[in-house]
Amino acid sequence: MFDKNGRRIDYLRISITDRCNLRCIYCMPESGVCAVQHAQILRYEEIVRLVRIMTGLGISHIRLTGGEPMARRGCLDLAQSLHEVKGVESISMTSNGILLKDKVHRAKLAGISSLNISIDALNPSVYCRLTRGGDVSQALSTLQQALAEGLNVKVNTVPVRGFNEKDLTSIAYLAKESPVCVRFIELMPIGCGTQVERIPSAEVSQRLREAFGEPAEDTQPYGYGPARYVKYPGFKGAVGFISAVSHEFCVSCNRVRLTADGQLKLCLNHTKGLDLRGMLRQGADDREILDAVRRAIEEKPARHAFFEEISDHEARSMNAIGG
Ligand code: GTP
Ligand code: 5AD
Ligand code: SF4
Repeated sequence: MFDKNGRRIDYLRISITDRCNLRCIYCMPESGVCAVQHAQILRYEEIVRLVRIMTGLGISHIRLTGGEPMARRGCLDLAQSLHEVKGVESISMTSNGILLKDKVHRAKLAGISSLNISIDALNPSVYCRLTRGGDVSQALSTLQQALAEGLNVKVNTVPVRGFNEKDLTSIAYLAKESPVCVRFIELMPIGCGTQVERIPSAEVSQRLREAFGEPAEDTQPYGYGPARYVKYPGFKGAVGFISAVSHEFCVSCNRVRLTADGQLKLCLNHTKGLDLRGMLRQGADDREILDAVRRAIEEKPARHAFFEEISDHEARSMNAIGG
């Protein structure tokens, strides 16, 4: 369907848990979060029902996110169930990769065709410091397994001043020998993301140009997201930039989000949404839910407005939003 700004919305990001096995400094506080109570989290049957209803509005691409989606038991069973829903054309997942190690084949069998793995540094001690305790070798094993399985694989890296500056070229170099997209995501000022310093995409791009030469624009569609891709001379894979702050891409936004506690979220920086859990548990029928979702999507905010005074700024961190 289209929203009132003429944007075609066909992509649903489903955050199935706000929990995570890591504590990335820009995402979660060291002490963790007060995890949403079990009863407030949508059951898998509820998620499948909502997706079935939303395919009626043209939602056809699903991404499972978290927190860390694999931190919730049965995540791959959910993927399998969603894969079987008529109208769902693709299922992808965004993960830090660690709990997926040795489960990539199962993920593929469950219908996951594309995997975005967050790896902010290759240097073990830098990765450990950024994630507050993670072991990069495990994330890298998952990356190799995903490539061996022939999945569409992307690496997500958030450049953070004072943490991984020196790792950026070596991460980009992953795309030299393998058909993997490496994306640099500009840190967004959301939740814990306000506490550390962003490195703008232009600066990252300049460093890569110095290391690898002049890139050519790459217009292949590697996913359904907002990344802009380039290819450096001699590279097998592409390098992408997701520059929500310096190059706002809201005008071509194609997505809405479902949070683990059952709220339909219309933009990652706005709290405005629809209480689908309430509707489900108060006995709404499919038609009522469909109509409410249609009305909500029509009213999708035009843009994120990170740095402006708006009445419904999102205060929660990415782990509760799903990225
Ligand atoms: P594909 O391109 O289909 O692979 O997906 P994606 O890049 O949308 O998904 P992913 O979960 O890997 O997200 C990468 C980064 O893009 C994360 O930091 C997200 O927060 C950010 N992102 C995804 N969607 C949006 C959006 O609508 N607005 C903004 N500002 N950032 C987004
Ligand atoms: N800004 C940008 N990206 C973020 N992520 C988490 N928090 C932020 C933030 N404040 C990224 C993760 C992961 C993706 C889902 O979102 O690193 O790759
Ligand atoms: Fe976990 Fe992803 Fe947040 Fe890191 S960015 S703490 S891996 S949810």
